[in-house]
Amino acid sequence: MDAMKPVAPPRPTSERESAGELGDDFDPIAPETFTSAHAEYAQMRRTCPVAHSTHWGGFWALFRYEDVAAVLADPELYTTSIQNTVPKFAFTGRRPPLHFDPPEHTAYRRIINRFFSAEKMARLEPLVRKHAIDVMSPLIAQGRCDIAVDYAQKFPAFVFADFFNLPRDLSVVIKQVSAEYVAAIQIVDDVNVKRLSRRLYEIAQSVIDERKKNPIDAEDDLTTALMEGEYEGAPLPVDFILGCVRQLIVTGMVAPSVFIGNMFVHLSQHRDLQERLRAEPAIIPAAVEEYLRLYSPYRGMARTARKDVVFNGRKILAGEPISLVYTSANRDESVFEDGEKFVLNRPNLKRHIAFGGGPHTCPGAPLARIMFCISLEEALARTSGFEVDGEIKMALWAEWGTNSAPLRFQQEAP
Ligand code: HEM
Repeated sequence: MDAMKPVAPPRPTSERESAGELGDDFDPIAPETFTSAHAEYAQMRRTCPVAHSTHWGGFWALFRYEDVAAVLADPELYTTSIQNTVPKFAFTGRRPPLHFDPPEHTAYRRIINRFFSAEKMARLEPLVRKHAIDVMSPLIAQGRCDIAVDYAQKFPAFVFADFFNLPRDLSVVIKQVSAEYVAAIQIVDDVNVKRLSRRLYEIAQSVIDERKKNPIDAEDDLTTALMEGEYEGAPLPVDFILGCVRQLIVTGMVAPSVFIGNMFVHLSQHRDLQERLRAEPAIIPAAVEEYLRLYSPYRGMARTARKDVVFNGRKILAGEPISLVYTSANRDESVFEDGEKFVLNRPNLKRHIAFGGGPHTCPGAPLARIMFCISLEEALARTSGFEVDGEIKMALWAEWGTNSAPLRFQQEAP
């Protein structure tokens, strides 16, 4: 099949809804606690693994690992170019790489992947550690903080500034605008989604303009590398370079902000594990990997089938949005034994799909892992204990994770 072939015009889900064929198998906007969504998804995997919701114009959700993995493995059948999230929010243009299918997508990924090489990560690591310490130390010294707000919203912006050669102030502004943008998406406030998206485009354009004025070697700068990139012998189109920079500045900071707090909440509730990681920091990377499986932050990444497909006996028509509920798939008991539990070094952990799969697999995974390991290392080394100290508030669909997680730190002399 030609990957660029347009999808058949979508038959609106509402037609099937009004015919009584489809309804609400689950509620993606139900209020949630730290544990409620996973409990519901375990039930969905058992009783309704291919679910429909009438929210946001109607969409399907795949809860089981094997169904999600089958979609990821077939990018020719399942495109991201119509809608790559539920709810759909990309109204202001298609942005590579997420909204492109191979082979066009590959041109952007070849460039982006170079900036996450082991060598580049090794160079970035000391800076990541410095930012973690700078943000974390005063919070620990004051005895308490909201780890999701005071740390997880700030630290990724500082890291991204170094990764993307941005002035720190600009990266902080991007983080703030992105946070407002994500919040507007979550409550489907289309007016503000469009306004904030345009603001992010302006910022992306200013980064490109700055590179034109003050060039940086393309080996050292992702924006410049995109500006010098080619597809089929021609330079990458300026609009798509802009779209790509616009996408990178947002995607690099969203998931880390909702993910970091989850590790701290779990460690607060499992003091034996907290003490073990404090005593044996060498096992922190294994713990982070298990946390990525257990607390996968994306549940609304989407695909659209180019022809009608059937999952578990349910027919999904060409053009109907399908969300890949990574948050659920990664706890699927048929793949991960005791999937609801934290198990250090589980034998098949590498199969987790927190970073997706197929051509759109997250390129930022190596940087994300470094950020999370260092965050735990530095917090554990500077405290003798920490615990949740207030109400945990959760992000809304399409993310899963903490938006607020108040913590109290102990610093007893050894
Ligand atoms: C907790 C941390 C993170 C998680 C769990 C995560 C997860 C994901 C997932 C699941 C996808 C694929 C989306 C899909 O299936 O449609 C993705 C794509 C992407 N991620 Fe991440 N991500 C994280 C951090 C980062 C960071 C730190 C960066 C960059 C600095 C980044 C950059 C990207 C980009 C550019 C894409 C688009 C790739 C493409 O379409 O080819 N991510 N991420």
